[in-house]
Amino acid sequence: MISGISPTTHWFIPYQSLLSLPQVETTIIEDVNFSELHAPKINVSGVELSELAHIIGVLANSDMTTALCIDRYQSQLPSEFVAAHHPILVLKINGLPTSQWAKQTKNEDPGPFLITYLDFKPSFKILAHQDMPQEPTEMFLLDFGTQNEHFGPITPSGQFASDSPVMKGFAIAKENCLRCHNQGAAGGTKSGRTWSNIAAIARRNPVEFADYVRNPQKVDAKATMPGNPTYDQPTLAAITAYFQAFPSE
Ligand code: HEC
Repeated sequence: MISGISPTTHWFIPYQSLLSLPQVETTIIEDVNFSELHAPKINVSGVELSELAHIIGVLANSDMTTALCIDRYQSQLPSEFVAAHHPILVLKINGLPTSQWAKQTKNEDPGPFLITYLDFKPSFKILAHQDMPQEPTEMFLLDFGTQNEHFGPITPSGQFASDSPVMKGFAIAKENCLRCHNQGAAGGTKSGRTWSNIAAIARRNPVEFADYVRNPQKVDAKATMPGNPTYDQPTLAAITAYFQAFPSE
């Protein structure tokens, strides 16, 4: 949704042009991505996402930015999230393009692009789920669209009070599960399991479902999904209730 550009067009912005935009700089300490990369403290610089959107002419009615990654992981960045946290599109690490930095330090290249924050402070908490930074790495595409197109397909279809477990579970699933589980064109496909697939498990075996969300390796030693060890019983119950209410295919 960019002014003057057809919605089906992919538009390339040269790296040098991104570097010519106003840059912000920050130090990342113990970012979950960089702990994997054995680089606990690094300096990064890049463009603020909202600044980029403004400069390239993203339409005012676009209220969602989605970051697509090589491994089919996605980050959903609703406009409220962008306004609260000021995500930065990282262009350089310790003054170098990410690939050069990776080569010099014998790390995996987190590029072409990644997203980070100056100082992330959670802006909400639902049960034991705290608003979490969306930190995609190996990102290759930004999509400027609407929350309706990304959240519509996973919105509960019945009538549920806003403070019901189903709606709380929905809010958590939007921020967490949608990164790797998809419903049609909405959401990441990294897990290879659709929303309907995991909804079926929530109905068939709610205990195993909740165990999987909290600690996947407890259910399957070979599981690669990250656990959610801070989720307590009411939080797991809300997520389970939400998926149980979600229709199967
Ligand atoms: C970072 C990616 C990622 C996120 C986020 C994620 N999952 Fe997963 N999930 C996976 C992957 C990958 C698998 C496939 C099995 C494995 O390797 O763990 C999986 C498998 C599952 C399974 C088991 C499916 C089966 O076939 O047995 C369930 C249930 C599940 N996820 C639920 C959830 C729920 C609910 C959330 C949100 C609270 C969530 N996942 C968030 C990556 C993710």
